[in-house]
Amino acid sequence: MSHHIAIPFAATKPNVGQHEPASIALRPDDVILTGDRPTGVLHLGHHAGSLGTRVAVQGRCSQTLLIADLQALTDSSGRASQVAAHIEDVALDYLAAGIDPSLTTIAVQSRLPALAELTVLYLNLVTVARLERNPTVKAEIEARGFERDIPAGFLCYPVSQAADITGFRGTLVPVGDDQLPMIEQTNEIVRRVNRIANATILPHCRALLSSTPRLPGIDGRKASKSLGNAIPLGASPEEIHELVHAMYTDPAHLRASDPGRVEDNVVFAYLRAFDPDTEAVAELERQYAHGGLGDVTLKRRLEDVLQQLIAPMRERRALFARELSFVRAVMREGTERADAVTRDTLQRVRGAFALR
Ligand code: TRP
Repeated sequence: MSHHIAIPFAATKPNVGQHEPASIALRPDDVILTGDRPTGVLHLGHHAGSLGTRVAVQGRCSQTLLIADLQALTDSSGRASQVAAHIEDVALDYLAAGIDPSLTTIAVQSRLPALAELTVLYLNLVTVARLERNPTVKAEIEARGFERDIPAGFLCYPVSQAADITGFRGTLVPVGDDQLPMIEQTNEIVRRVNRIANATILPHCRALLSSTPRLPGIDGRKASKSLGNAIPLGASPEEIHELVHAMYTDPAHLRASDPGRVEDNVVFAYLRAFDPDTEAVAELERQYAHGGLGDVTLKRRLEDVLQQLIAPMRERRALFARELSFVRAVMREGTERADAVTRDTLQRVRGAFALR
């Protein structure tokens, strides 16, 4: 890269993925492909679910992160300009979290026409009934209140996601557990393409789940920006303070001396995900369940942990936000590399469909 800014990537190592197993089953010939919809800034749920893993494994095999703006449009076509604006936010969050563009390719989905053509070909290999059975799509249709008015692009986005993964001939997909049905559908498509081609032109893929594949929002519901219940990677010290102290604990735990529930207690979910001292957390859980540990004490500890985790990310985010031409060059160069790879895959798949 021809841009000279001092990027403190080396300094990113200590604060990532405290609980990521160092022994992730990874082969040097694995191809990591994953993505995020640019619907806003990324938050700690992304970090715990898969961003931390991506930072921890980068450099050990090829890795591409796709900013999935076309997928975002499948339920946000009325907010197209916001989707476009959030592409840069996601790239900034990647860099803030410690993604190093010399080790990881960052590419923009809508600028890769081969993925759109792969999607069109794969649509012939999937039934509408199968798409309607996809549990994640089902839950999202419900959550968005589409009822009968489901955008066809939305129902079909698992096929486009299969194009994303197979376009890079991806073998390993770091994601949260809500994405497991997408991996399953991708592998069904892979099987069908290979059968039509009568050769193994696409590899099967597997999910790479973190030890915290699903972190709740501060109110215990699914974390999301629109609910305002997530902690952004660029959160200010004051925001962190407020969000931690607003966290849902156990409504029946009124006095410190009362026994409390740790299972659906959000503070413990975050401590388990981010506190490097796992033994201390286990001890706190015993104490809390038994009675004798107050919510405020617990929240102070979590606030310390999160302030330390987020401070370097916030600093890097601010640094890169002042270097947007660098961030754009990272996306442009990454997208160019990705374009070559995905066009090559498309040629092979076109061949399977007897297209020249
Ligand atoms: N569906 C993913 C999400 O909502 C985003 C995504 C798009 C993705 N393309 C992908 C994930 C390919 C893994 C692989 O977060």
